Amino acid sequence: MDLNTLTKSRDQIDLIYRQVYSNTSHIELGWPRHEPRVDLSLRRPYTAAVIGGAFGDEGKGRTVVNLIHNFFSKQEIKKVYVVRFQGGNNAGHSLEMNGIKWAQHQVPSGIHLPSVYGIMDSGMVIHAEDLMTEYLQIERVTKSNLKGKLFVSNTAVVCSDLDRAKEIINRFLNSGAKGGTGRGIGPAYAGYYDRQSLLISDLTASDWRQRFSKLYKNLDKLTHIHGFDLSQMEVPDFAATKAKNKSCNRTVGSLQVFIDRLAQARKWLLGQKLVTNTFVIHQQIFDDAQVAVLFEGAQSVGLDAWLGTYPDVTASNTTLYGIQPSTKFWKQSQVWHRIAVIKATYTSSVGERQMPTQIDLPFPITKKQELSSDQQWADYVRTEAHEFGTTTGRPRDIQFIDLGLIGYNVFMGGVEALVATHMDIARAREKIKVCWGYRNLDGEVVAYQPGLIYQQDLIPQYIELPSWDGKKVMKAKSIAELPEDALRYLSFLQHVLGVPIVAITTGSKEHDYITFPGYL
Ligand code: IMP
Repeated sequence: MDLNTLTKSRDQIDLIYRQVYSNTSHIELGWPRHEPRVDLSLRRPYTAAVIGGAFGDEGKGRTVVNLIHNFFSKQEIKKVYVVRFQGGNNAGHSLEMNGIKWAQHQVPSGIHLPSVYGIMDSGMVIHAEDLMTEYLQIERVTKSNLKGKLFVSNTAVVCSDLDRAKEIINRFLNSGAKGGTGRGIGPAYAGYYDRQSLLISDLTASDWRQRFSKLYKNLDKLTHIHGFDLSQMEVPDFAATKAKNKSCNRTVGSLQVFIDRLAQARKWLLGQKLVTNTFVIHQQIFDDAQVAVLFEGAQSVGLDAWLGTYPDVTASNTTLYGIQPSTKFWKQSQVWHRIAVIKATYTSSVGERQMPTQIDLPFPITKKQELSSDQQWADYVRTEAHEFGTTTGRPRDIQFIDLGLIGYNVFMGGVEALVATHMDIARAREKIKVCWGYRNLDGEVVAYQPGLIYQQDLIPQYIELPSWDGKKVMKAKSIAELPEDALRYLSFLQHVLGVPIVAITTGSKEHDYITFPGYL
């Protein structure tokens, strides 16, 4: 991809259109066979990173699982390590195995599979009690034994109910504006930068009670200043939410209650021998030719603290760059396959942000007959693709696919290949509206620039492309069975973005997955 990709002119877009959609054009997807791959000499073989290309919920978890299976199809690979390098319980990766569905939040995807190990690295903010709930749920749902398979960095940041209480105070100070998922992610990272947060090593220390009591008492003073009683503040109750499958809260409780809850999680962490110096594991696996390593991003580039739509961003580094400060061992340049996952026919997001390509859609919808054609498309997408937050259950906002945003994200995110999910979300006889860029109020073509302030006064520029029957895509098991307009569409995206599409998903089931040349 060259820099120019960020500001394509209408003429360039039309040229790509003519090349891709002419009767004589040859459709090639994936890495072009005739072009040499980039210099691979510095890369560690059998490594891949998967990050989100838009605003999260693109399908990273199932891509990670698919890559795991692909790694194991190589005779020399005996173990796969999946490394989560940022985020915490704000993430929600939907997974499926033999028709059973579940969501993972902090634990790396694929850990239920034999010979797969998970590392929760130091760039994460870890809620210990929620981790225990999630770990036990994965064991129960997948009928697997995770003992000895998960490693938690001793320098990861502890995210506790105190951070969730802080998030509530922040909301109160910001006149109710939500901002985050309520899982305490922002305050936990803010505490780290302010050198106030406690690490997992503080939780395992012998005087942990004093350290966490101090944290509680400090926050107690702060909450009183704002007229709150910390013990009575209601924070998300992850265990009850999981058990009842609906959002539940609990109070932070007294200092004693807070410490007792932590004590239980601490005992479990220590009993399972989960906490370790992950740097040493990285040193060992780096040189082990039988080990493949997968870096699993949570959230996505559009939510990156610096490259996302600030202030509606998460607090961590969601690009491949995040691997470096988190593992303190791997450089992003050592990763062989650098993949971003995007939704193929639309973009979606959950949060306060209003993107230029957003389709205003009421929720719930009472009068369907009064919807505009754009709204009907958004309604179809939300319903068919079940666009509701995995973590929060909130209806997601639907946007036309935004190549300005995605082009920027893949360029800055360190990405070299794309997986396009939701290819089945398409209706025959209806064009797909693709935003290829923006004009400002003076009519000039302008590049996507991160930050919410730069999303105002942009006029999205659309091109309408032939669609296909999503049901046919759902039945396809190979490239040859995909409708031609679906292939042309992917080829168009690949040309505009300057990054090869190496796989697609054709439905919500685990095996609804078709790969193209260069996937692994
Ligand atoms: P936080 O990460 O909880 O602080 O939330 C900050 C913003 O990121 C909010 O707009 C959230 O809705 C959004 N967000 C955080 N995690 C995810 C995710 O995994 N998927 C989609 N949006 C997310």
